[in-house]
Amino acid sequence: MKQILIMCEYLILQHPGHNRVYYNLAGELALAELKIAVQRLSVNVTDVKVIEIANVRYLSIITEGVLSSNDFQILSRLSFVFSMYQLDTYNNKNILVPIEQYNYKYVDDKISSMLKYPGKTNELFTKMMINVALLSSDFNYDDAINLLDPVSGRGTTLFEACIYGFNAYGVELDAKSVSDSILFFKKYIQTERYKNTANKRMIYGKDKTEAVYVNEFEYARSKEEFKECDNRKVLAVVNGTTVDSDKYFKPKKFHLIVGDLPYGIAHGNKTVKNKGGITRNPSELLRSCVEEWKRTLKVGGVIVIAWNSFVVSRTQLQSVFAEAGLEVMKEPPYNGFEHMVDKSIKRDIIVAKRVN
Ligand SMILES: C[S@@+](CC[C@H](N)C(=O)[O-])C[C@H]1O[C@@H](n2cnc3c(N)ncnc32)[C@H](O)[C@@H]1O
Repeated sequence: MKQILIMCEYLILQHPGHNRVYYNLAGELALAELKIAVQRLSVNVTDVKVIEIANVRYLSIITEGVLSSNDFQILSRLSFVFSMYQLDTYNNKNILVPIEQYNYKYVDDKISSMLKYPGKTNELFTKMMINVALLSSDFNYDDAINLLDPVSGRGTTLFEACIYGFNAYGVELDAKSVSDSILFFKKYIQTERYKNTANKRMIYGKDKTEAVYVNEFEYARSKEEFKECDNRKVLAVVNGTTVDSDKYFKPKKFHLIVGDLPYGIAHGNKTVKNKGGITRNPSELLRSCVEEWKRTLKVGGVIVIAWNSFVVSRTQLQSVFAEAGLEVMKEPPYNGFEHMVDKSIKRDIIVAKRVN
């Protein structure tokens, strides 16, 4: 017997965003993120586009069949989602039936929006990079994900990873950024009454003059959860150079590597003291550490890096990843993320997978 397919249309209203400049550009990015996500849905998707209903912009997905609760769990996590609806018609009128969003948050999302500072990566953009990485990898949101931000700054990626309940690891050269992120996180989990332990230990180096330290927290929502070691989450930041990432972490530790490379310009008047790493040239920095990052990445794991495409071309970065034996995702929608941030920054992301 021939199966009858029910065509369904779902609408997503986009988050107004915390930052107007980012929101105005975010339509195209949202579309690219959504196109990556629909590949994980349980039904066939025939169209993904931006539409307007009553002068309001929505992202529309047309599916061959009804979406499952697991599908809504995936969609609820997308960085731009404000509300979701199923589109119905009654007496030739559009009816938007609200869809309940999945509450996936292990930590409240205010954790990554509270801190404001020059050079901060927009938190919605960061969440988008994490989604693109996870959805392009061989892993799922409910796996016990270890995420590394190899240029973690003051921690936006790490805090976004905490919201998802991922274990978050950072490497950052600038000692002040490391201590700011650690102090903020400590205060946050204490105020929100997470059960936690904190320690600082030497992770690398022959003696004290060469010592590289990691600040590590283990935390859980309650005393009961904390008792079971498997339930504990980790946030750890190494004050060191990303070029030595493979010296700080075991091989194949990470499912995802997500970071926002230095933009090749100074933010404010602040300069970063260099301990042997390269701070401002994204291409050179990447070339000097891509092999090391790859060693720490699991097979099936994905690297997503944002960079300033005014300073280095996409082709240059693609060849750096390809030479390291990583599979670069070049086809649409992966080439749909480039956007202007300001006069000196045109930001883009590159996605590469470890296939062996
Ligand atoms: C664009 S910022 C990241 C901002 C971060 N996502 C945030 O929101 O706070 C890039 C960071 O890379 C760091 N960095 C530059 N060279 C580095 C190196 N060799 N090793 C580790 N971090 C480095 C810089 O100090 C800077 O904090």
